Amino acid sequence: MTQKVALVTGAAAGIGAACAKRLARDGAAVGVLDLDADRCAETVASIIKDGGQAIALGCDISNRDQVQAAVGKLTTLFGAINILVNNAAITGYWPFLEMTDEQWDMIHKVNLTGTFIVTQEILPGMIEANWGRIINIASSAAQTGAPRMAAYASSKGGMIALTRSLAVEFGPAGVTVNVIPPRFITGTIMSEDSFARSKQPMSREQLAMAGPVCREGRPEDIAGAVSWLASDDAAFVTGQVIGVNGGRIIA
Ligand SMILES: NC(=O)c1ccc[n+]([C@@H]2O[C@H](COP(=O)([O-])OP(=O)(O)OC[C@H]3O[C@@H](n4cnc5c(N)ncnc54)[C@H](O)[C@@H]3O)[C@@H](O)[C@H]2O)c1
Repeated sequence: MTQKVALVTGAAAGIGAACAKRLARDGAAVGVLDLDADRCAETVASIIKDGGQAIALGCDISNRDQVQAAVGKLTTLFGAINILVNNAAITGYWPFLEMTDEQWDMIHKVNLTGTFIVTQEILPGMIEANWGRIINIASSAAQTGAPRMAAYASSKGGMIALTRSLAVEFGPAGVTVNVIPPRFITGTIMSEDSFARSKQPMSREQLAMAGPVCREGRPEDIAGAVSWLASDDAAFVTGQVIGVNGGRIIA
């Protein structure tokens, strides 16, 4: 992956940080994007300590001006972006009948509109290079549904549909687009918060044992799949929903 440039959103922590570190280890120069540049410092320091290249990009993915500035900064420093991991997201838990317009809009604005904005700003460079990899991080909640998470689950379902549409539209331009819907990845802010506030309908142990691999998922499990999807080896894979979920069968 030498000389490739990757942008990972939501990379200050959790799954995004693991993806950024993994792509850097694979040889890419990485834009570590998150809401606050200072929060990206740990991920960037770890990449540089291991001999990689990275820059912190403070940016709200739902703000087009900020996205344009971040993409400009990364491109000026390392060159055109070849790999995009749309990972940043927020969640919220509300009984459907009590959810307000503002809560619904807030979730969709970040998870779906933010993905749309970042992707639209980066795709032209990939098309020009006739090579690009877009990996979207959705959620198994989009496949199974989740109580009190209708806004989050539908925003992630939108990411799956967006993935398939972009794969069809930009396959001829050398750009592959795939989506990973994780399930139960521990050690991240989002998953630990949901356990701390008892938002999960199942216990940790029940969740771990619900798939044949019988353990909790780790951010590195997702990063490994992202690394492969970003590689030349995955050139013939596009528009796919790649389940990295311990083997739990989801129809
Ligand atoms: N952890 C899980 O079990 C799990 C399960 C299913 C899906 N996912 C998905 O995986 C991805 C990563 O989740 P995680 O568990 O690592 O969560 P996390 O909360 O630890 O990380 C998400 C990161 O996104 C950043 N972010 C939020 N809004 C942003 C915005 N507007 N602009 C820029 N950055 C923003 C946050 O600051 C945070 O650093 C998310 O898309 C999430 O929906 C996670």
